[in-house]
Amino acid sequence: MVLEISSNPLKEESKISVLFVCLGNICRSPTAEGMFRDKVLVSGLADTVHIDSAGTGDWHIGRPPDVRAQKAALARGYDISDLRARQVSTADFDEFDYILAMDEQNLRDLHAMRPNTFRGHLGLMLQFSQSNDLTDVPDPYFGGEEGFQSVLDLLETASEGLLAHIRDHHFVK
Ligand code: 4NP
Repeated sequence: MVLEISSNPLKEESKISVLFVCLGNICRSPTAEGMFRDKVLVSGLADTVHIDSAGTGDWHIGRPPDVRAQKAALARGYDISDLRARQVSTADFDEFDYILAMDEQNLRDLHAMRPNTFRGHLGLMLQFSQSNDLTDVPDPYFGGEEGFQSVLDLLETASEGLLAHIRDHHFVK
């Protein structure tokens, strides 16, 4: 997918913040959070990249990730058991530089609540994936185990792309 990332007014800031958003915040976005946190840690940027996730819906507020998501993530080395769901709010647009939606419906919902003052990047997570032209990380909630594997596969390449983008645009001089 061709990257069309909005301008980069945050270049001078020392800390970059990333919020992953899906519908329930119990499957896709906590998986993205745990995976990206791990990749950022390995790359030595843990102190300079702030990471969180949220859902556009409110049904699962306060709950841990879906046990199927936890199990699939842990099998790949990502422990997401301590995460708790929360709902995205307009205040998140003040706090986060990158707000990344898991699918186009999530993105539409985020655009509807985006304040005019937001100067960060609001877009799709899979924009950062070089390996396919998909827009959506499919919602695995009502499906089987294979859906959770697909979420992990899609997020692996997108997370690598996102990390490379952040390094290139914010940290590499
Ligand atoms: P997520 O998956 O958006 O990846 O967390 C879902 C979780 C719960 C529901 C839908 C999607 N739900 O309808 O409760």
